Amino acid sequence: MPIAIIKSDITTLAVDAIVNAANNSLLGGGGVDGAIHHAAGPDLFAYNRTLGGCPTGEARISPGFNLPAKWIIHTVGPVWQGGDAGEAVLLQACYVNSFTLALEYEIESIAFPGISTGVYGYPKQAAAWIALSAMREFDPHFKIITACCFSEADRRLYEDIFTAR
Ligand code: AR6
Repeated sequence: MPIAIIKSDITTLAVDAIVNAANNSLLGGGGVDGAIHHAAGPDLFAYNRTLGGCPTGEARISPGFNLPAKWIIHTVGPVWQGGDAGEAVLLQACYVNSFTLALEYEIESIAFPGISTGVYGYPKQAAAWIALSAMREFDPHFKIITACCFSEADRRLYEDIFTAR
């Protein structure tokens, strides 16, 4: 099964596409978004200005510019508000819409960060469950899907959920 769970900085991955946990402006921010804009270079900001933003749960695509990845799929996760504001449906939509866009662009390898689990405060375990369920659903269509964790603790959490299901 081509799902890899790794601990890495997603900006270093030489895959067809990395996914960015962006905000509605698509013009950069902190966290993984800031790291991706920094590594891709200023052409990303200029390009994303032409996209006109992105609603929560949807996804947009840009070139990878200076990244080793060819494409960046920008998706906007929900801000955690306690769980009764449709957060789970929106987070699942981020994964499904990112995968769907990747298929349209004939992307065969794709890496995801833990969307919404940083600044946006989504509980990591619940988010990992949604992420891995979507990855399992789409894995027949990809050569490799990478869950790119930023800490060893996050990597272990993903591994535990992956093997428990
Ligand atoms: N590589 C992989 N994962 C990373 C990296 C990296 N270089 N840097 C951070 N993470 P966050 P969000 C992990 O806050 O919660 C931005 O300001 C991090 O440990 O980046 O969706 C945007 O502009 C965490 O598990 O994204 C938005 O305003 C995960 O990436 C807002 O943050 C997501 O954390 C989006 O918040």
